Amino acid sequence: MTPLALAPVLALLAHAAPEPVPLADAPASWRPAVERAREAAADFQQRLQGRLAQAMGAGGPAAAVAVCHEEAPRIAREVGAERKAEIGRTSDRLRSPGNAPPAWARSAVERLAGRTAAEVGPLAVDLGDRVGVLLPIAVKSACLACHGPAAGLSPKVKEALAAAYPADRATGYAEGDARGFTWVVTAR
Ligand code: HEC
Repeated sequence: MTPLALAPVLALLAHAAPEPVPLADAPASWRPAVERAREAAADFQQRLQGRLAQAMGAGGPAAAVAVCHEEAPRIAREVGAERKAEIGRTSDRLRSPGNAPPAWARSAVERLAGRTAAEVGPLAVDLGDRVGVLLPIAVKSACLACHGPAAGLSPKVKEALAAAYPADRATGYAEGDARGFTWVVTAR
């Protein structure tokens, strides 16, 4: 058996949460919770991207690194509190160790590494009285200044990233790649 084929077996042995399934296969009873999760994720993305665009316009990508570092987690907490959900961003190739996947998402995030966002599609998982939702995040051209191939990053961006994220693995992406996921946990 390949290591990939063993992953679900190991997850079962570890009594991990059930595996996330494609949203299309999720039971109809999850739909209201999934809808709320999608709305929360969209709100989070919109606020974060607005803030990022503003920072990029004001000080360029190197200055925006600090904004992303301070504000991405804060905006996630803020939207989560407003919408009674837990929200975060994660990836199989992390920039910030603070964005490690929650336990229920770990094996799916690893399993779907290296795909395009279109190949991955949204996923959901039963967490008892809650539902966990994983929404893939596509790399766009605007992301490449900080997540594109290392050779294409400006020296200032490289410097800012190296200072804040010594273990950064989040460069080398191309447009259309799945950069990672927005994850949301919300009550059923
Ligand atoms: C100005 C530089 C910059 C740009 C542009 C940028 N990012 Fe990031 N990205 C960062 C930084 C810095 C972090 C780490 C934030 C933190 O500390 O939580 C990050 C983290 C992330 C994460 C969380 C997972 C991880 O590796 O920590 C995702 C997902 C992500 N970015 C996706 C994107 C996408 C998609 C775009 C384009 C729409 C984008 N980023 C544009 C700098 C940038």
